[in-house]
Amino acid sequence: MSMLNSPLTLPCGQVLPNRFMKSALSEAMGDRSHAPTPELERLFATWADGGYGLIVTGNVMIDRNQLGESGNVAIEDDRDLEALTRWAGSTRTAGVPIWMQINHPGRQSNPLGRTQPVAPSPIALKVPGAKMPAELTPAQIEDIIERFATAAAVAERAGFDGVQIHGAHGYLVAQFLSPLSNQREDEWGGTPEKRMRFVVEILRRIRSTVAPTFAVGIKLNSADFQRGGFSHEESRDVVVRLAKEGIDMIEISGGSYEAPAMMGARDSTVLREAYFLEYAATVREVAPDVPLAVTGGFRSRLAMEAALDSGDCSMIGLGRPAATTPDAPAQIRGEVVDTLDSYRRQITGAALIGKVTNTKALDGLIDLQWHTDQLHRVGAGKPPDLKRPSWKTTVSMVRRNGSDVLRRKRT
Ligand SMILES: Cc1cc2nc3c(=O)[nH]c(=O)nc-3n(C[C@H](O)[C@H](O)[C@H](O)COP(=O)(O)O)c2cc1C
Repeated sequence: MSMLNSPLTLPCGQVLPNRFMKSALSEAMGDRSHAPTPELERLFATWADGGYGLIVTGNVMIDRNQLGESGNVAIEDDRDLEALTRWAGSTRTAGVPIWMQINHPGRQSNPLGRTQPVAPSPIALKVPGAKMPAELTPAQIEDIIERFATAAAVAERAGFDGVQIHGAHGYLVAQFLSPLSNQREDEWGGTPEKRMRFVVEILRRIRSTVAPTFAVGIKLNSADFQRGGFSHEESRDVVVRLAKEGIDMIEISGGSYEAPAMMGARDSTVLREAYFLEYAATVREVAPDVPLAVTGGFRSRLAMEAALDSGDCSMIGLGRPAATTPDAPAQIRGEVVDTLDSYRRQITGAALIGKVTNTKALDGLIDLQWHTDQLHRVGAGKPPDLKRPSWKTTVSMVRRNGSDVLRRKRT
């Protein structure tokens, strides 16, 4: 039997039916008050029928005044418990566990928002239009740790099977870990051990709030791919520490908005598609038992099976293929296809919609939004449209963000 079809038991006792994980994809489908919508339920029910062993939601914010993107779902208390319960229930008929990814954007908050961004240190993101964040006080840090635990408790009450802390891609947890964004000299920064304290406290607080059978995982950067930044060595030390603290799964990714390694094939080859797999193999040496997922670049059965067989990872994370081919795992596991068709070109490094502008950063944004459009189509009961032209994506991107800005102006 292919390893892809074998179940995986996590430290908390939860059993995942197979090795495919739908990685977090920010859906931008929350309603005006940041509650989940029926469209989200339809999208997740579609994925549940698509053969996944674990489904992770897009990032849900723990503070409605600190959003990452327009349309984020946010949880501060149980005011939206009914809608959250329906969302959690959307994968139950198919028997697929669902985890909620929980996040605070820190200095990476939506630049179109009106609120003051916060961060470990007053160092702005090096992208056009970024605001200077305010340095968090120790009391504000404590409040954010508590908010992570509250969101996890509400997720558990709603019926989610676990949470995943977003510790990657330059958001607040990653900001605390990186020496480039955390230059504090108190107990929250200064040494790798102190920079790690924020994430360890979040994990402990969540664990003390939820049942022992509720899964708690994290998405972690292998590095932030910037000179003087969070390195592979430091990332490995964090893995070892989190494994000791009883984390249920570590999903490995990398990069941030400043250096978006998570979306691009840095050193992939045709056979070794997944670009963080080599790092994962080195993690295995120092943390042999922790369940590891690797996300970024997986497109063919050969590469997926080789990754599992080598023991370098325990779960195969899929991001963009989940948007274009909602039943990708069923197709691969059922041997209907060897390679996810829509991505044949991407294995050699080309983006699905290709080059749109002359600016790499703008093309990256359009690529993200093009995949978000596909999620909205599936949420509306339509199939993905792989021929969707980039101009249509530009229109929907402006519409999604523009209506949010107008709404904020009116309130
Ligand atoms: C539209 C879109 C939204 C995303 N939203 C999130 C998110 O909310 N949280 C997260 O951890 N990663 C997010 N990602 C990154 C993916 O989870 C994944 O790491 C990345 O797409 C690389 O994997 P892939 O090559 O399989 O697409 C997003 C990616 C896309 C394309």
